[in-house]
Amino acid sequence: MIPDRSGRFSDWHNNLKKMNKPKISIVVAVSENRVIGNKGKLPWHILEDMKRFKELTTGNIVIMGRKTYESIPEKYRPLPNRINIVITRNKDYSEKKIIICNSIQASINEAKKFNKEIFIIGGAQIFQQGIKYANKLYLTIVKGNFEGDAFFPDYSEFKKVVAKKESRDDNYQYTFLDLGRTVKKVRHKGS
Ligand SMILES: NC(=O)c1ccc[n+]([C@@H]2O[C@H](COP(=O)([O-])OP(=O)(O)OC[C@H]3O[C@@H](n4cnc5c(N)ncnc54)[C@H](OP(=O)(O)O)[C@@H]3O)[C@@H](O)[C@H]2O)c1
Repeated sequence: MIPDRSGRFSDWHNNLKKMNKPKISIVVAVSENRVIGNKGKLPWHILEDMKRFKELTTGNIVIMGRKTYESIPEKYRPLPNRINIVITRNKDYSEKKIIICNSIQASINEAKKFNKEIFIIGGAQIFQQGIKYANKLYLTIVKGNFEGDAFFPDYSEFKKVVAKKESRDDNYQYTFLDLGRTVKKVRHKGS
């Protein structure tokens, strides 16, 4: 197939790639100084953010580190109506109704077996190692600088604004910001 001047070949090629490439997204609430957690907990309590998290992830796959999994109150875990994949180095880790994986790569491979959107949901270690697999970020940027011990990695590679909405509650101001990776231009020889 020879590409025409309108770039039809690249559309076809991109569509083919999409068919084989599952959507891997990160969903995270992060302060302006990139804090995501403090002493094993979220530094804020934002109902609208929790609602959005539920809406995005329900019916899909959530991948998380063992510490994040155990930070969810027992009565709410595994997160209902989602496939829960938990990453740990502990080969004897056992817990009912979740999939346990011993590496990020193994968790992605496992998740790819289902035809669903894959959400990496934290915490800091898993975001740090998992961001390279993500093609979309669903951020809730909480206004202000917070004290914390868990941070979100640099995400400057994600420059494409897909959606943006400002919001607030009685205690916090926040922005829902969906970002994609910068689209690289496909160059064709001789064009
Ligand atoms: N703001 C947000 O949106 C958000 C979302 C999620 C979490 N958080 C916050 O983030 C904090 C927790 O983050 P965290 O970094 O401490 O913990 P984490 O990323 O949730 O889990 C870390 C654990 O994952 C396992 N792990 C990490 N890398 C691995 C690898 N390459 N292979 C196999 N297992 C691996 C290890 O489990 P083992 O020790 O069992 O081997 C490690 O102890 C909490 O404060 C939480 O509230 C915030």
